Amino acid sequence: MTRLVLGIESTAHTFGVGACTYEGDIVYNKSSTYATTTGGIHPREAARHHADVAPSLIRSALEELKGYDIDAVSVALGPGLGPCLRVGAVSARALAIRLGVPLIPVNHALAHIEIGVKQTVTKDPVSVYISGGNTALVLFAKGRYAVTGETLDISLGNMLDVFARDLGFGYPGAPHVLELATKGKNLLDLPMAVKGQDVSFSGLLTSAERLLKSGIDPADLAYSVVETSFAMVTEITERVLVSSGKKEVSLTGGVARAARLVQMLETMCRERGAGFSVVPQELSGDNGGMIAYVGQLYANRGYSVEIARSFVRTRWRLEEAPVLWK
Ligand code: FE2
Repeated sequence: MTRLVLGIESTAHTFGVGACTYEGDIVYNKSSTYATTTGGIHPREAARHHADVAPSLIRSALEELKGYDIDAVSVALGPGLGPCLRVGAVSARALAIRLGVPLIPVNHALAHIEIGVKQTVTKDPVSVYISGGNTALVLFAKGRYAVTGETLDISLGNMLDVFARDLGFGYPGAPHVLELATKGKNLLDLPMAVKGQDVSFSGLLTSAERLLKSGIDPADLAYSVVETSFAMVTEITERVLVSSGKKEVSLTGGVARAARLVQMLETMCRERGAGFSVVPQELSGDNGGMIAYVGQLYANRGYSVEIARSFVRTRWRLEEAPVLWK
């Protein structure tokens, strides 16, 4: 029987279950995402959603994976929202005990990075990790993944979600802004805050909100917000690419689904003679498959945690996550 590692994700709005072979093939990946029609994400309501869907998602996974030998359970123990993380942790501990297999703690950010790196040629790219909660440029150095450029205030995904709420959309709102942006024609002048290898989006958001109130065309505004923020990310990626001497860029995280961002980064990489790859759509947002994939990397090296010590870590930094396979 083929051996598998199961992976459970619950750090924010998504509860997901995935499974990965010891060869690194993700053979199962299902999830359910908490959404609202208006307003943002409420941690306790998202956690209630997770608690509601967890039993059936896990049951279906076990049913569908009957022909496999599940010999470890991995779980994203952080960083993330406490109430949400606890649902995943409780589910994973119970499952590990029931199956009599080791429990493997996975850092959520590390999983986004690694599932992107999996697609690369050099396996040593500049990772551009952009999601609802993160905007970070990450390099592997001295045995760890380290953030080398990032947002100084809110993440790009969060900025788009907040702007979406201003436009009257629910959560997650970023896809609505991206859709509306394709209908814009006029590029408005918005502040571009790039400081060295870092960016800042709060000034851009404030300007956009002010212009929205002044009655400007929302499509033009969405178009301008998207173009400006993506150009900022492309600019710091170019700076990190040059200063680090790396030969490849890997785009990962939920915002990797944005075709315009892919296009901008791809063009910049081509002009610089660097390689470029983007995480597959089904693995770009939060999902259990990427947790299972990293779980497998750990399991291959016999790494696990005692159930009694499997605490959730809401602020678990990427730099603190062990990388045993490089
Ligand atoms: Fe995420």
